[in-house]
Amino acid sequence: MTDLMIEAHGVVKAFGAHKALDGVDLAVPRGTVTGLLGHNGAGKTTLVNVLTTMLPPDGGRARVAGFDVVTQGHDVRGRIGLTGQFASVDESMSGRDNLVLIARLLGAGVREARGRAAELLELFDLSDAAKRAARTYSGGMRRRLDLAASLVGSPEVIFLDEPTTGLDPAGRLGLWEIVEGLVKEGSTVLLTTQYLEEADRLADSITVLSQGRVVASGTSAELKDRVGRRTVTVTLADHADVPAACGALEHAGLEPVAADNTLTAPVTSSRALAVVVRALDEVGLEASELALGEPTLDDVYLTLSRHAA
Ligand SMILES: Nc1ncnc2c1ncn2[C@@H]1O[C@H](COP(=O)(O)OP(=O)(O)O)[C@@H](O)[C@H]1O
Ligand SMILES: [Mg+2]
Repeated sequence: MTDLMIEAHGVVKAFGAHKALDGVDLAVPRGTVTGLLGHNGAGKTTLVNVLTTMLPPDGGRARVAGFDVVTQGHDVRGRIGLTGQFASVDESMSGRDNLVLIARLLGAGVREARGRAAELLELFDLSDAAKRAARTYSGGMRRRLDLAASLVGSPEVIFLDEPTTGLDPAGRLGLWEIVEGLVKEGSTVLLTTQYLEEADRLADSITVLSQGRVVASGTSAELKDRVGRRTVTVTLADHADVPAACGALEHAGLEPVAADNTLTAPVTSSRALAVVVRALDEVGLEASELALGEPTLDDVYLTLSRHAA
């Protein structure tokens, strides 16, 4: 038996003529966090919806906790937690009553339901606000209550679709700690994010999605390796010089990526700085700033998604 808790093979989902997912493969081993990283519109939510049986795929196959999402949807739904979808919080009820109600709906007895609610309120640092109506909660508290609600049934696989979007830095940090705690206890997590920092911090493995396709996957270190250990960043005083500078660097054998006034290119050694200076000099350009740096996940994402496009 395989120990993959999420498996997708060539998943396709189209909305009219637009393919939101265009043959996506994914493999998430038990007890790990996979970060699904991509900008707005990359297809993250669509993939989560297919995996959680909310949307039927148009092609390919997917299994969650060993069950096929199309033919065994009921079995899948019994084993997953999905923030803010299955477990919708009633604003007029207290945090505690919301959790008790969900536990009761899932078949728990009164005592068991109260016990589970108390446990989750404690875990999510909501005990003090347990008796207050959910509508009085701050954004971060509300997000934690949503997450608690999705965990009432002790799911084996947890889907978190951009869980920290809109939270302040303290709220984000609190949520990251909770996710780390869940994984320590054996949960398997698929987390979508637009934040590189978040994927870097939380995920054992990162899958980069761009326009419905997987453009890279691996650990954050592997992704960084793929674009080279180091980068040269050239800042130009005049935006109009960007195409000429790009051409010059390409001519010198580099693969620059342009963003605003800067060009970033992966390099293998610090000698590349001299190469860049000479290449720019040959076309009569001068960098207003020149820097050598370790690649961030952001560089990786940019490089990979530009390549894909
Ligand atoms: N229900 C829908 N009907 C039509 N197009 C959709 C629908 N849902 C998503 N899309 C399109 O599919 C693409 C992927 O969307 P989505 O999965 O929401 O991306 P992400 O979650 O990464 O921002 C986008 O181009 C989006 O406009
Ligand atoms: Mg989305």
